[in-house]
This record gives sequence, C-alpha cells and structure tokens, in this order.
Amino acid sequence: MPDNPTTKHARIRSLEEYHEAYRRSVETPEQFWAEVAEPFTWRRKWTKVLDSDMAAGRNEWFQGARLNITENCLDRHLATRANKLAIIYEPNDPKTRHLRLTYRELHQEVCKFANVLHNNGVEKGDRVCIYMPMIPQLAIAVLACARIGAIHSVIFAGFSATAIADRVNDAQATVVLTADGLNRGAKQIPVKRVVDEALETCPSVRRVIVVEHLGWPVQMKEGRDVWYHEEAEDVPKTCPAEEMDAEDPLFILYTSGSTGKPKGVVHSTAGYMVWADYTFRNVFQIEENDIYWCTADIGWVTGHSYLLYGPLLAGSTSLMFEGIPTYPDAGRFWEVIDKHSVSIFYTAPTAIRSLMAAPLDNVLSYSLDSLRVLGSVGEPINEEAWYWYYQHVGKERCPVVDTWWQTETGGIMISAMAGITPSKPTHAGLPMPGVQPVLLTQEGKEIEGNNEEGYLAIKHSWPGIIRTTYGDHERAVQTYFAPYKGYYFTGDGARRDENGLYRIIGRVDDVINVSGHRFGTAEIENAINQNQNVVESAVVGYPHDVKGQGIYAYVICSPEAANKDKAHIEASIIETIVAEIGKIAKPDKIQIVSGLPKTRSGKIMRRILRKVAEGEISSLGDTTTLLDPAVVDEIIEGRK
Ligand code: WT7
Repeated sequence: MPDNPTTKHARIRSLEEYHEAYRRSVETPEQFWAEVAEPFTWRRKWTKVLDSDMAAGRNEWFQGARLNITENCLDRHLATRANKLAIIYEPNDPKTRHLRLTYRELHQEVCKFANVLHNNGVEKGDRVCIYMPMIPQLAIAVLACARIGAIHSVIFAGFSATAIADRVNDAQATVVLTADGLNRGAKQIPVKRVVDEALETCPSVRRVIVVEHLGWPVQMKEGRDVWYHEEAEDVPKTCPAEEMDAEDPLFILYTSGSTGKPKGVVHSTAGYMVWADYTFRNVFQIEENDIYWCTADIGWVTGHSYLLYGPLLAGSTSLMFEGIPTYPDAGRFWEVIDKHSVSIFYTAPTAIRSLMAAPLDNVLSYSLDSLRVLGSVGEPINEEAWYWYYQHVGKERCPVVDTWWQTETGGIMISAMAGITPSKPTHAGLPMPGVQPVLLTQEGKEIEGNNEEGYLAIKHSWPGIIRTTYGDHERAVQTYFAPYKGYYFTGDGARRDENGLYRIIGRVDDVINVSGHRFGTAEIENAINQNQNVVESAVVGYPHDVKGQGIYAYVICSPEAANKDKAHIEASIIETIVAEIGKIAKPDKIQIVSGLPKTRSGKIMRRILRKVAEGEISSLGDTTTLLDPAVVDEIIEGRK
C-alpha cells in the first residue's frame, strides 16, 4: 500500500501495537494525540493539545490551531489521489445508473456549492439546515458548509415538518438546503413540501436552496427559494477554504435525550477531525484500495463520521446508497456489494434482522467475495444476528466489529479493531486508545475488576467529545457531566467480561432505541399528548424481534373520547405522532387505559409498565406503594 500521509504514526497493525498505543494514550495523552494529529494539513499548529475541565463540560483540543476540515478531506488528497473515487452513489432504483465522483470532481463540486452558499449570503458561523435525500449533493452540501465555515445541521429526511421547525428554530438557521423529492423503496416523498410547511413557523430562514432530484414540480416562494442548478451555472470551480479555529463548531446534530426536547449536539473542528479519522482507519483497518460502504443516512451521526468525514479524511472510497435494504427485494445489499466490489460493510443490527427474516437464498445467491470486514452499529447486536452476519455475509472469513459510540462521542469509543483486537459476539470489546471507560455504581463509585456490571462512564477527555448543546451549555453539563463529577456519563449500562471486554446492555435512562434510532420516552409522550383525545400518556420500550426495541404507549383518553371507536382513536394518535416527529416514531402498540400506575407522590412507575409491555406480568414487584393498585390489573387485562 502506498504510504498514506495520515497513517505515519497512527495506524495500529497488531495486538501489541494496540496495547502500546493504549498505554501511551493514557499515560501521555497530549503527546499521543499530538503525534496522531501531526500529519494533517494545518494552517497553524496548536499551542496546547488539551485543555479540559470535565466537571464543567469544557473540553478544548488542539488549542490555537487553525485549519479547514475540507482541506483535509479533499485538497490534501489531490496530489496523490485526484483520480481515485471518493464517492460512489448507488441510487434507490437498481435500474437507474450509479454515479461516481473522483476526489478531483468532489473537490470541484464542493467548491461550486460553497460559492453558491457564499453568493446567497452564507457566512462563517451561520447555521445551515440540510434536509435532503441520500444523494451526492447531500454530501457535497455538508462539505460546502464546512468549506466556508458555516455550521451544518443535517436533519434526517424522515422527520416531520414540526420536527424540522423545532430544529431550525433552535439552531436559528438562516438558510435551508433541500431537494424536490426523495425515493424510499417504492415510495416517493415530496420533501420540499415538508420543508415549506415547516418554514411557516421559522422566521429566521431567509433562503431555501433546492436541488433537483426527481424532476418534480415544486412551489418556489418568491424572494426565498432558489434552484441550486440555476445558482451554480456560472460559479467558479474553486473556492478558498475558510480558516477555522480548532474549536470553531463544525456541526450541530439533534438527538433525543431523556427529557422532552431533542438537543443540538455540537462538535468542533480539529478534535472531531482527528477522532473521526483515527477511529475510522483503525477500527476498519482501511487499506488504500478498499471500497467501503456504510449504510447509515448522513442524517445520523454514523453518516457524518463514517460515511463522509472519516472515509474522506482517510482518502478512501465511500459508497453512498439512496435506497432501503428490502427494495426491490431483500437481496439488494448483497447485490450492491457484488456490483461495486465492496470490501468493508458497516450496517445496523436492525437491518441484519430484517434481512434474516427473508429466505436465505437472498444472500446465498451472491458471491460476496470482495468482503473483508463487517461492522455493526447503533444498538446491541443479538447473538443470532451476529452469527448470521458472520456466517452468511462474512462467510466466516471477515471479522465483525461491533462499534459502540454515540452522537455525543463523535466517533467509535469501544470496538474491536478488525482482525487485531478480540471480536466476541454481543460484545463491543476493548476501548479505542484515548478512551478510558469505567463502570460506576448508581452512587458513582468506580467498580474495579472484571465480570462486573454498572453504569458506563468515560474518565478523561477524548478528541471527539461533545463540546456543548447548542445555545444551552448548562443542559450539556446537566446531562453528561454533572451526574458523575469528573466523568462523561453515557446513559448506557455495560458489563465487563473476564477479559475486560465490554458488552453494552442498553440504556439506563428513559431513552429507547428503535431500529438504532434514539427517542426519549418523554419526547414521544409530548407528541401523543398533542392529540385532542388524550389526557395523559406513558411510553416505554419493549423487546422487538426486528427493531431491537418497540414503542409501547399507554394512553388515558378524555371523557369526551369515551364513546369514540378505539381503533379510530389509535389511528388518530399515530397520525399525531407522525406529524409531530415522523414515521420513525410510530408506536408499535397503543393501549388505552383508564389510569396509570402512580406512586402517592404522583410519579408514574415505569418499571411496572415496562414489565407489562415485556409480557413479564409474573414479576411485577412491589405494587403496594401505588396510589391505586387496581389500575395494574386493568392494564394487565388489556395488554396488547
Ligand atoms: C446509543 C447512541 C453510534 C451511532 C449510532 C447511534 C446505542 C450504539 C451500540 C452498540 C450497543 C449501541 C447505545 C448508545 N448503541 N451503538 N454497538 N452496541 N448499543 O447513535 O443515536 O447517538 O445512539 O445507541 O445505547 O447510547 P445515537
């Protein structure tokens, strides 16, 4: 392999090297990360590697450094990789031609888009919301923002108008980038129309730039909306990169927490860049000629770090897929792997489980010879799915990396490095260099030794750590840094096995993980409570064969709704949730109840609701402290 300028110091190639790197990252973190950061393109080097006060949620990496991340993703590669493919775009419909962009072409397209943004008044520090299908222009738009120092905030194109408006308003975005429509399997969705509806309540937005994708007629609002292709007609193919401070925000990405409102997780430039690149190359053990495919949407953090930034920083070829795993049939993923000779494949357990349900022929009829490494992300992978993936996709030849991390961590925290550190089914494994996981008791005492279980927290800062929650630093402190002083609190429970490998058990807070998407139960309850029939609701997660967790909603209706048809009320509640959040938050089960199990102080006992939803009615525990124990019997009776 030709020497990759970024691999000089930082590529781990054996278990010994891993242990050595890990030791140095703990003993002399600043020296360790300075070496890792050295080969990037810096306009100016840092004066201090790390300035961190975990208790205050203040973390600054590479202080004083100046750079632009797109110079590292694009310009830096032009000398040696100008004609190498940067992006392969595989469209929703296999009969539509795919598209390939070399590093030179991507550089040009990003510069053009950046010039269009400039011409439309976007400046450094402005927030730009992006609501687009998984097409190359989405990747280009994100990088174009970074090129001119605008803060991008991508909103997954499945969110509803209300959810868009919440995010746009919170970010106070001035510009929104979108497309006429999107393909999702056999369906087409008019995204511009959703944006139009959202923007009725978003006074900060003065410009909407629309990319033509489906060729659909859309309404263009005079003075606000412009077509990208018209704006891009005469713009230059180069655009100087804005010089950014290491700690200038790169992006905001909204994610759910245990409280009602999604929060804007902010990542900054230099630390995120170093972290995305380092974890990408080491976890997947990237080689120069790999064709790498991450199936995540750029609307989620996985798409940010491991479809876009990580691969481009490493000079890799990244495949971008517009469609879904089951269209036109359950063989699509495997067809795409064979078609483009994909060597590294990174997907979510929910996708694997949905494909396991299809006849095995769907996968056995493809060769999959090109595959070398398999990855999993987003939720715990159960043993059955792990083995199916390992046997039928990887043919027992490809190591599986089960990567644990979060929107807030910027990149992978605990995972095997393919073929280097141990890969054990249902275990994420050992921490990345720089990551110091601990298990805490509820009171915050560190649990020593192996074969132990506790709250997963991280001691010491790492380059990709969340910098703040947009517009409300106190919220970041309260959520992540105050629960256990001196630690970053993950919200997950974990177990350390006899060899020190970590296994993620699941959330210990009121967050549920549905098909790898995070929702706060309070967020879904807030949505349900908007429905005119509803007085109160309580939402819990329960085990679901394909989604990992399903959404179970207990709902108390108003007296006026008492004589309405139950099916009608349920349909209306679903409609409300789809309007408030989006289809991805649709409950799997709704049970109309006359009361909820509450303590005398009025607190809902979710433990009981979870047990009922799980079907574990024989182990409800103590219900005598309830205000009205009889509601439990009614709930069990009417269980769905
Ligand atoms: C939560 C973070 C990581 C990017 C995609 C999701 C769960 C994530 C794993 C894994 C078990 C996992 C955790 C975490 N999770 N990866 N490999 N094994 N659980 O990012 O939306 O920020 O969600 O997803 O519960 O806290 P996210």
